[in-house]
Amino acid sequence: MRRPFAVGGAALLGVALIVMFSLYSPPSLGQPSATGPFAYIALADAHTQGKVGPAAEPGAGGFDSQILAHAQQMLAEGRQIFRFDTFGDQAFWGDQLQLHKALAGEKLGGVGPGLSPKQALALGLKVDADALPADLVQKLGAGQVNLEDPATTAALLKLNAVLGVTGFFDEQGGLKSMGIQCAFCHSTVDDSLAPGIGHRLDGWPNRDLNVGAIVALAPNLKPFTDLLGVNDATVRQVLNSWGPGKYDAELNVDGKASRPDGKPAATLIPPAFGLLGVNNHTWSGSRGSTTYWNAYVAVTQMHGQGIFFDPRLNDPAEFPIAAKAGLGNKRDPVDQITAKLPALHYYQLSIPAPKALPGTFDAAAASRGQALFNGQAKCATCHVPPIFSEPGWNLHAGPEIGIDNFQADRSPGEKKYRTTPLRSLFDTAKIHKGGFYHDGRFATLRDVVDHYDGFFKLGLTENEKGDLIEYLKSL
Ligand code: HEC
Ligand code: HEC
Repeated sequence: MRRPFAVGGAALLGVALIVMFSLYSPPSLGQPSATGPFAYIALADAHTQGKVGPAAEPGAGGFDSQILAHAQQMLAEGRQIFRFDTFGDQAFWGDQLQLHKALAGEKLGGVGPGLSPKQALALGLKVDADALPADLVQKLGAGQVNLEDPATTAALLKLNAVLGVTGFFDEQGGLKSMGIQCAFCHSTVDDSLAPGIGHRLDGWPNRDLNVGAIVALAPNLKPFTDLLGVNDATVRQVLNSWGPGKYDAELNVDGKASRPDGKPAATLIPPAFGLLGVNNHTWSGSRGSTTYWNAYVAVTQMHGQGIFFDPRLNDPAEFPIAAKAGLGNKRDPVDQITAKLPALHYYQLSIPAPKALPGTFDAAAASRGQALFNGQAKCATCHVPPIFSEPGWNLHAGPEIGIDNFQADRSPGEKKYRTTPLRSLFDTAKIHKGGFYHDGRFATLRDVVDHYDGFFKLGLTENEKGDLIEYLKSL
């Protein structure tokens, strides 16, 4: 294989070997090393010896130290899983769909022209600058890396530098399969090195990522055509209809590709941060909590190997595709997921919502807006501060907030929308790129406020609307 940039052969081989033989994919630079079965003991020991955490904490020698060690272990393991664990889903994305062949291209043993880094970045894939060797960072900075060559994409995969995508390589260094991780959709980068290349931002939705267009590159979509009972061209058309920042996590459950108005049924990828203290999760929250979703998405969407149980999905009238595929009671022979759910859950709940920096909103207006939010505009009746969702059963039918019920109806639960915990609303460049509400139907906060003003007949003046928006931006 051609080498688009010089990286030590031994280092490459080392990385490739770790990719092939580790249960989790390789830790990149700067990863915590205290993971795996012995980490707990190591951390617990370190703590009793006063090496970890605040030494003067009350009761630090007893069970308290076990709690602290457990917290640190869960966080480190959860981060590793979130970033690097494919749960064995390469059996689907690589072995079945042959997606890696489209990435590699004909010259490298795949099919078609291959995917250059430039094209990969245009599809919203992100590169972890911290996984790149220093000389490569320098070359990238100086514009000396060939971003037009698919071989460079394969080399980046070898470095495990493409967020949420793991390449599996054979002994000759050829790409033989690939899998995806949570970080594929729920991480982005800060663009510190170049657009699409920088430090990881876990939990931030990748609103540039065109999931559908990426999947549509796959040479073999037979698993989808068989399941959905439609032809190859139709599957590709549906996938290409989603657009950036969106994914349809129910298509292979109910088979609904479009909404009643004909627009694609895909929803925005939500943030996976700021979820602490919030009960139901996902846009149509009546399905369950974060950990329900993690099992659902890992087994039924990422096609990892594991167990997923939700007999509500066995109803053939409501969920014909799920019922046909047995998704409501899926039990793969080897379970690579269930044991990881606790740490994965822990890590997600640990990710804080990014806060607005002072100066990005008008503080005086925001304070007037806060009074409106809690009073005349009635927002706080549902978005209860400081979690900005209802403590308890945080669900509402579409007509309660003046919208249709299509997406809520696709849920196996109560057919309601979850009161979105308002987070990081100041950021429309990344986090809220693509708009607000589950399908991005409101392009701006002004559109959201106008919608509520009309629907709830709030009678807000122009100035009041402005103040309310400044408050929303401050959250
Ligand atoms: C292909 C893209 C994709 C992948 C991969 C993915 N998700 Fe998601 N995730 C979504 C979408 C889309 C939703 C919203 C689904 C809905 O409401 O119907 C979502 C919802 C969520 C939520 C709910 C957030 C909230 O506001 O309540 C969490 C948490 C989450 N995902 C975590 C994960 C974890 C953990 C993994 C890996 C096991 C994962 N996701 C893999 C696309 C993805
Ligand atoms: C009856 C309960 C209720 C009231 C009252 C309410 N909301 Fe909401 N809000 C919701 C629900 C439910 C959603 C989720 C809608 C969806 O995803 O389609 C939501 C979504 C939002 C969003 C989008 C968040 C995102 O990340 O996309 C914003 C912003 C918002 N509300 C602001 C407000 C403001 C400002 C007010 C007061 C003028 C208000 N809400 C009043 C229930 C409510």
